[in-house]
Amino acid sequence: MTDSASAFRIAVVGAGTMGAGIAQIFAQAGYPVRLQARMCETLDVALRRIRVNQEELIRHGLLGDADADAARARITVTRNLSDALAGAHFVSENVPERLDVKQRLFAEMDQLAPPEIILSTNTSSLPITQVARDTKNPERVVGFHWFNPPHLIPLVEVIRGDRTSNGTMDATYHLAKAIGKSPIQVQKDIPGFVGNRLQRALEREFFYLERIGACSGADLEIALKQGLGFRWSVVGPLEHADLAGVDTHAATVALLFPLLSTDATPPALFADLVAKGRLGVKTGAGVYDYGPGDVDRILTRRNTMLIDFIKVLKKHPSLRDPSLG
Ligand SMILES: NC(=O)c1ccc[n+]([C@@H]2O[C@H](COP(=O)([O-])OP(=O)(O)OC[C@H]3O[C@@H](n4cnc5c(N)ncnc54)[C@H](O)[C@@H]3O)[C@@H](O)[C@H]2O)c1
Repeated sequence: MTDSASAFRIAVVGAGTMGAGIAQIFAQAGYPVRLQARMCETLDVALRRIRVNQEELIRHGLLGDADADAARARITVTRNLSDALAGAHFVSENVPERLDVKQRLFAEMDQLAPPEIILSTNTSSLPITQVARDTKNPERVVGFHWFNPPHLIPLVEVIRGDRTSNGTMDATYHLAKAIGKSPIQVQKDIPGFVGNRLQRALEREFFYLERIGACSGADLEIALKQGLGFRWSVVGPLEHADLAGVDTHAATVALLFPLLSTDATPPALFADLVAKGRLGVKTGAGVYDYGPGDVDRILTRRNTMLIDFIKVLKKHPSLRDPSLG
């Protein structure tokens, strides 16, 4: 935590799945946070979620009791938007993924906050330029896209809208670093930005391979978790090309690119599950079925593994910052 952090106030608007963890990370980095939601119940759930997240980090030795208490003391809650934005230096918006809702909210925030205050959106897919459409100061609107669970995944995307200023991009990027995240700068306001595009490109091939009977879905998950994902967390594709031999890499790329799936139609699987109300752990069934206690067990197991991986990152700082390698 830096001294300047305590004087730089953050407003987190929307306190659902993402807003809670985001407020937690800013507060743990020393920033005073005003967390806003329209309903008291949402705020209560968010504060409980933050405490549970922190207890997990404490159990695994990544957070001290006193630091956790101090971070929670930095978070104040409000139901009122102008109250949340009063005195804020940076705003993180986390309301549902609906363009009309975000456009209305940004127009209102644009009026409430002085023009030098950065307004960031955590949209997963909406164009930043569109989110900023009804603001008078679109140069201070930027994408700041976190990955779920936001208190554990290091990557954040800082996304330039058509009218986002260089100053807004730089300040947001440096803020992301200051809170311990691994930011990347996305310079084009393209659908899915970078993270989701890479993810869906891989999923397209995943479902194609399953459909033609090349491999079962279960084995494809092993291929990603035990092979590619495992290695990619240490060396990316360009670094790997050098290690494996650029000539070999060039030959494989030339052979395979023309053979990869170009399906434009998504697999029926997800639409079928949605039609059946199988929405995943939140409805007790999705791709898989979940019995009593399964969801808590699965979430705890996932978080424990991610936390263990954070410990690996701490042991090897160059994984986060290649300039240290
Ligand atoms: N859930 C994810 O995995 C994930 C990952 C990355 C980004 N995102 C993005 O983050 C944003 C929030 O997603 P989430 O999953 O936290 O949603 P969520 O539904 O869990 O939470 C949204 C919260 O915003 C509140 N809200 C609705 N309208 C509001 C308004 N006008 N003002 C203030 N609060 C309002 C809702 O009551 C709710 O508590 C979305 O844009 C989503 O695409 C989500």
